[in-house]
Amino acid sequence: MIKTRVTELLGIETPIIEGGMAIAGNGELAAAVSNGGGLGVVSSNPGWSKQSERTKNVRQHLRRAKALTDKSLCANMSLQLIGKNPERHLDMLVEEGVKIVVTSGGSPGVLTQTAKDYGLTVMHVVANVRQARRSEDSGVDIVVCEGYEAGGIEGADEITSMVLIPSVVDAVSIPVVGAGGIGNGRGMVAALALGAEGIQMGSAFLATTECHVHQNFKQAIVEADDTGTVMIQRMIGRLSRVIKTPRALQFQDMDKRGAAGEMQELMATTPSDANIEGAPTMDAQWHGQMGGDMENGEAAAGQSITFVQEVKSASDVVRDITAEAEALA
Ligand SMILES: Cc1cc2nc3c(=O)[nH]c(=O)nc-3n(C[C@H](O)[C@H](O)[C@H](O)COP(=O)(O)O)c2cc1C
Repeated sequence: MIKTRVTELLGIETPIIEGGMAIAGNGELAAAVSNGGGLGVVSSNPGWSKQSERTKNVRQHLRRAKALTDKSLCANMSLQLIGKNPERHLDMLVEEGVKIVVTSGGSPGVLTQTAKDYGLTVMHVVANVRQARRSEDSGVDIVVCEGYEAGGIEGADEITSMVLIPSVVDAVSIPVVGAGGIGNGRGMVAALALGAEGIQMGSAFLATTECHVHQNFKQAIVEADDTGTVMIQRMIGRLSRVIKTPRALQFQDMDKRGAAGEMQELMATTPSDANIEGAPTMDAQWHGQMGGDMENGEAAAGQSITFVQEVKSASDVVRDITAEAEALA
């Protein structure tokens, strides 16, 4: 068995963490990851809800997860998604018995001390060494470093996992979890060899039976090869890795041409029958991930989808990757 400071701190059997995934990260998925021996994470915005109802929505998903597992569970607190009153959201997590949180999308200074005062274990997601050092100084317990291969919003420095993981490991003394581009046992062993004490995966958990995203999205993941994703919306400072759909290629072309106005216009004209309050870009993400619109929707996914060959239980994803890694370690 692979045991590290991460398995010890989080009370899990194998050092595999589900990445928080806006829209995609539902309660059933989190429970399945935890039942497989890893750490399941309920997202800050499972499915999608109005910002004013987001805390209530997360509470419901946490309850579903708790009904399905008695193992460790975690909640993502994306500072961009949980709204203007993060303390209220944190209070709800504590009421629901959450003992581990992973903060992302902002400074570790915002919530770490409050969460520590509640006795929680705090992880924070970073994309460069400076952010990792700041996390350690803020009292974060575990730093998750996410490389450019990852699905979803990327760090502006575009550092890949192969460089980011050992750089962060050298810079901090708290345990480091590697994320971005890891989707099999070989990737897990590589991350451990680079000094990480665990891995975080998002994309590997999308095409699973428990993940509530649309079947079309899962199918696109299964069919994708190593060229299956593209970076979009670089020009508007919202660099994001998504499945290569016709819409994504349009965005990519606009980035190349520097057509910012055209891009904003396209984002604002996303079909909105999902009746979602919020930015048009989130509407497009809902259409891609939940609506299964692989033409005009956006579906965040990382390069590691090339390793996904079939839809299976998230518990089995954890078990299979662990078994492959243990055989190699
Ligand atoms: C669909 C999707 C949504 C994501 N949303 C979030 C999010 O809300 N908060 C966050 O911290 N990370 C988010 N991420 C990043 C994941 O937590 C994770 O770090 C990443 O997927 C790891 O790289 P991988 O895609 O190569 O597995 C998202 C990733 C995906 C694929």
